[in-house]
Amino acid sequence: MVQIRKINKCDFEKLLVISFEQFKNESWSKEQYSAAFCDDNYILLGCYLEQDLKSFVVANESLDDVNILMLATSENDKREGYAKELIQYLQNYVKKHNKTLSLEVKENNLPAIGLYTKLDFKVVYMRKHYYKDGQNAIIMFYNQK
Ligand SMILES: CC(C)(COP(=O)(O)OP(=O)(O)OC[C@H]1O[C@@H](n2cnc3c(N)ncnc32)[C@H](O)[C@@H]1OP(=O)(O)O)[C@@H](O)C(=O)NCCC(=O)NCCS
Repeated sequence: MVQIRKINKCDFEKLLVISFEQFKNESWSKEQYSAAFCDDNYILLGCYLEQDLKSFVVANESLDDVNILMLATSENDKREGYAKELIQYLQNYVKKHNKTLSLEVKENNLPAIGLYTKLDFKVVYMRKHYYKDGQNAIIMFYNQK
């Protein structure tokens, strides 16, 4: 059964494996994840199948917004709906707490843009040549009034 829950210490190594596998040299470091893990302003959620971590999300929560910082699914578990489960969980959370859900995504990241568009995120603006490789950053919001 698929389950969404807070990531605990036991799953930390698996989270790092997924992160480095998916983000390569753009991954957060172990230290960055550890700091977020100990900070109440961060939300770290995992999508599990039979206790096995398949996908995770890290977000920063402020008074009126939850900002998604990292989202990744293990390579062998893509297109199974795990990331969608995580985002839908956050969507329910922000609706309940009357906040927005925001994120920034590279313009050429079509899988991620496909996911967010399917889940009703709207493009709010674009930061030109924001990334080191010259790609534009697209800023998307959900639940914006
Ligand atoms: C983006 C990412 C998290 C999606 O994870 P996932 O678990 O495979 O996504 P899901 O299975 O929940 O996909 C849900 C929907 O998103 C869209 N989607 C996902 N992957 C897609 C792809 N490769 N191409 C087009 N659309 C895609 C589809 O609409 C999909 O629904 P469908 O399978 O019914 O067609 C995953 O590809 C990943 O880890 N990418 C590398 C890290 C990354 O770029 N993170 C996002 C940074 S902003």
